[in-house]
Amino acid sequence: MRTVIVTGGAAGIGRATAELFAAQGDRVIIADIDEPAAIVVAAAITAAGGLAHAYRLDVADEDRWQEFADWCGREFGPADILVNNAGVMDTGGFAETSAAQWQRTIDIDLMSIVHGSRVFARQMIDAGVHGHIVNLSSAAAFFPARLIPAYASAKAAVLMASQSLRVELRRHGIGVTAICPGAIRTDLLAHGERAGLSDSEQAAWRSGTGSVQQLAFAGPDKVARAIERAVRRDSAVVPVNPEAWLAYGLFRLSPAAMRLAGRLGSFALADALLPRVQPLLPRVQPLLNRITK
Ligand SMILES: NC(=O)c1ccc[n+]([C@@H]2O[C@H](COP(=O)([O-])OP(=O)(O)OC[C@H]3O[C@@H](n4cnc5c(N)ncnc54)[C@H](O)[C@@H]3O)[C@@H](O)[C@H]2O)c1
Repeated sequence: MRTVIVTGGAAGIGRATAELFAAQGDRVIIADIDEPAAIVVAAAITAAGGLAHAYRLDVADEDRWQEFADWCGREFGPADILVNNAGVMDTGGFAETSAAQWQRTIDIDLMSIVHGSRVFARQMIDAGVHGHIVNLSSAAAFFPARLIPAYASAKAAVLMASQSLRVELRRHGIGVTAICPGAIRTDLLAHGERAGLSDSEQAAWRSGTGSVQQLAFAGPDKVARAIERAVRRDSAVVPVNPEAWLAYGLFRLSPAAMRLAGRLGSFALADALLPRVQPLLPRVQPLLNRITK
């Protein structure tokens, strides 16, 4: 039986991924900063006949990673698959995003995959496990947009870090994949912060943009299937969704065209569109949940 670790497994893409691997007969460890939610997901998987354990982990905290890896090793032996999925998407222009907000994004979205990959690659190498490390990048890595410069910078770095790691771990028989999803129906935006807002404005922005993300056509199960396939096929870079493939191709073909596209989005436009889009939600969301997963 393989041991599969999924960070951020308490919600969204991580939860769908943990459920998929567990349904295939793998033991899954759901490592999340939201421990109560991780316990609920582990209990649901167990109730469905799977094998799951919850673990409280702040992926940005380097010291906790070694403790976590030691615990996994003691309890279950060396991990076979690590899915570095936990992440946040904060929004805000380049200059209005404070240094502390940039740091938060870099710590959670980039350094977490550095810490996790270093610790678990070492565990796999020492145990001679021909495992796999999956890192969640994003289509944002190809898209120099005005709304999410910190997030896009972190995800672009995740993409390169994953490929560098892949080159290095080849001789140990360990695969590494960067997954680059487009827009997926989760609470990622609702969990994020927008720079430059007061607390009450923040709450309104979170619920507003968060609800708009529920109009995304693809659900988290689609990314989970892509992750499972990528491990099986040992893929290097996997865009998920048509818009992600388009951005991936266009960024390589014409970076100037991508910069032009990136200029189109603005907070003024988002603020103007939000009130128009939100009323559609109660009608469209149940339909989307039914027809796409
Ligand atoms: N949803 C999308 O459209 C989309 C697109 C591209 C990439 N991604 C990436 O996919 C990954 C998962 O996103 P999602 O959409 O499922 O988001 P989500 O907000 O639904 O879930 C994120 C999970 O990560 C956990 N988490 C956040 N910070 C953490 C920390 N410091 N330590 C441990 N756990 C933490 C949260 O508690 C939550 O369970 C992220 O890396 C995100 O950047 C998402």
